Amino acid sequence: MLIVRRAILEDLGAITEIYNEAILKTVATFDTKPKTVEEQKIWFANHGSKYPILVAEQDGLVVGWASLSRWSDRCAYSDTAEISLYVKEEFRGKGIGTKLMEAIIREGQKADLHTVIARIVEGTEVSIHLHESVGFEHIGIMKEVGRKFGKLLDVYLMQRTYNT
Ligand SMILES: CC(C)(COP(=O)(O)OP(=O)(O)OC[C@H]1O[C@@H](n2cnc3c(N)ncnc32)[C@H](O)[C@@H]1OP(=O)(O)O)[C@@H](O)C(=O)NCCC(=O)NCCS
Repeated sequence: MLIVRRAILEDLGAITEIYNEAILKTVATFDTKPKTVEEQKIWFANHGSKYPILVAEQDGLVVGWASLSRWSDRCAYSDTAEISLYVKEEFRGKGIGTKLMEAIIREGQKADLHTVIARIVEGTEVSIHLHESVGFEHIGIMKEVGRKFGKLLDVYLMQRTYNT
């Protein structure tokens, strides 16, 4: 059975493991070196009710996570968040990303966020499709802003605004 719930500190090991898998194997994140749980504690502490982290748990195992992170520490941006979403490799394509996405969008609404931005690297069609499916719109492309695995990469900007 799959449940989606708020992340707690005890989930950080599993969250970090899933993120590190994406760092090492995909261009979905522009981080290139694996993170330690210790480093991720700072990231975790910067979240809470306004900027939530959710995990997807299947039969007691954390198999994915999603977060809404503060877009900028400049105060006028405080109702703008950036979405992140990662599913453990062997659990992809089973609807878990969709469940996490729907849940994190609902959490953002509850938290009175105004708008959510996604930065999505070129070539990740599943991710683009998933964002479009919950109402994200394309707002621009940043050309050749990253280089990973020896390739220069564009980043698509997508945005979803809550009707408040
Ligand atoms: C992007 C990601 C979170 C999606 O999670 P997921 O659990 O695999 O997604 P789902 O199974 O819910 O599928 C989402 C949609 O993509 C489609 N899809 C999934 N895998 C697919 C594939 N390999 N090929 C084509 N379509 C696919 C599904 O059919 C579904 O579309 P639908 O709702 O129209 O049927 C996951 O693939 C992932 O972690 N990727 C690596 C990290 C990443 O890119 N994160 C996003 C950073 S912004």
